[in-house]
Amino acid sequence: MRVRLEPSGLGFETEAGTTLLKSAEAAGIEMPSSCRNGTCRTCICQLVSGAIRHVIEWPGLSADEKAEGWILPCVAEAQGDLTIDAPKAFSVF
Ligand code: FES
Repeated sequence: MRVRLEPSGLGFETEAGTTLLKSAEAAGIEMPSSCRNGTCRTCICQLVSGAIRHVIEWPGLSADEKAEGWILPCVAEAQGDLTIDAPKAFSVF
C-alpha cells in the first residue's frame, strides 16, 4: 500500500501489521512523534483520502475528530492507499 504525504509530496510503502509512523521512518521520513502509543497526540494528522484502522481500541481522538478524518499515525495501519495531510513531515535523506 502506498502512502502519499501532503503538501510535501513525500511517499512511502506500508503494509498490514506496521503502523504508518514506523513505515514512514523505515523510508527515511520523519513525522512528529512522542509517546508512540496513541495518547499524546503529537503525531496527529488528517486523512485526505483512503481508510485506516487504529490498532488500539481508544486512540486519543474524539468521535468528532475521527469523523473529520484525524488520525494518530503511531497507532494507525493503512487499509489501502492513503493520502495524508502531514505538513511537518520531512525526509532525512
Ligand atoms: S506519538 Fe503520541 S499519539 Fe502518536
